[in-house]
Amino acid sequence: MYDVKNGKIQLENGTIKGGIIAIASGKGGVGKSTVTANLAIALQNMGKNVGIIDADVHGFSIPRIIGIEEQVEVQQESELIKPAEKMGVKVISMGSFVHEQNPVIWRSPLLLGALQQFFKDVIWGDLDYLLLDLPPGTGDMVLNIMQKLPHARTLIVTTPQITATNVAGRVGHMAEKMDSDILGIIENMAYYECSKCGNKEYLFGKGGGKKLADLLDVDLLGQLPLMKHVRVGGDEGNPVVNQDREDAISQEFINIAEEIIKRKKEFDPNIKPMELKGGPGQ
Ligand SMILES: Nc1ncnc2c1ncn2[C@@H]1O[C@H](COP(=O)(O)OP(=O)(O)OP(=O)(O)O)[C@@H](O)[C@H]1O
Ligand SMILES: [Mg+2]
Ligand SMILES: [Zn+2]
Repeated sequence: MYDVKNGKIQLENGTIKGGIIAIASGKGGVGKSTVTANLAIALQNMGKNVGIIDADVHGFSIPRIIGIEEQVEVQQESELIKPAEKMGVKVISMGSFVHEQNPVIWRSPLLLGALQQFFKDVIWGDLDYLLLDLPPGTGDMVLNIMQKLPHARTLIVTTPQITATNVAGRVGHMAEKMDSDILGIIENMAYYECSKCGNKEYLFGKGGGKKLADLLDVDLLGQLPLMKHVRVGGDEGNPVVNQDREDAISQEFINIAEEIIKRKKEFDPNIKPMELKGGPGQ
């Protein structure tokens, strides 16, 4: 998959200096992809080179959120893939190979093959951060990433709701079992702030993110409110951090990005990644 050399992750066609961050959740729809896109842009705006792998191969959504419509180029002779680029962020997604409304009907071993290819055959160049937007839950793809990319650190996104934090807890425990480092928790949809009077409504309950962070003995890195312009930005391919850096939510994303940079950890060259292939015979 890759090597660790001179303190960097050496990919076949690129390097990673700062970190591989897998954005995970228990429940679906809690905001992983939204967080991935906005964090990527926040990091990029801080002068970091950022790539995103949309590892939600069935349910890809990064191209829409970040506003990529074109298909990717596969170079003729080398068969290497040039990632799409938007707002300075390099993106590879199944969505750049198939139309948004076509179902991706591959089975897990093939999916893992695709992910492996995203690592090996994409011309990433020199990156600081590679973010992986995971599918929800503890399925094959997530398990494999935690197990086979030992230098990846997991960022868990949850809403404060107990049904979300419970399942997120399972993802956290899975990461612990796989010796995959948990970078921290982001509580999304933490509250709704009335645009007229500023009153805060805790629609999904209060304190769930902190509870989960305590349970897993990691930090709550940020709390993001539920706001209409975040949803609209995602639908229109213009994430909030790109719309307006001064916006309160953008500022929260920027704070989280700063925390992530501060928590940089050296890549241990003694730990080896494994091939991201499926079961026997794959
Ligand atoms: N803070 C927020 N405020 C308003 N809307 C939000 C917020 N975060 C996410 N959303 C919206 O909620 C929906 C789900 O978000 P998103 O797709 O990022 O979740 P996900 O965890 O990646 O979902 P999936 O599990 O399906 O991959 C999207 O429509 C998104 O625009
Ligand atoms: Mg998603
Ligand atoms: Zn009000």
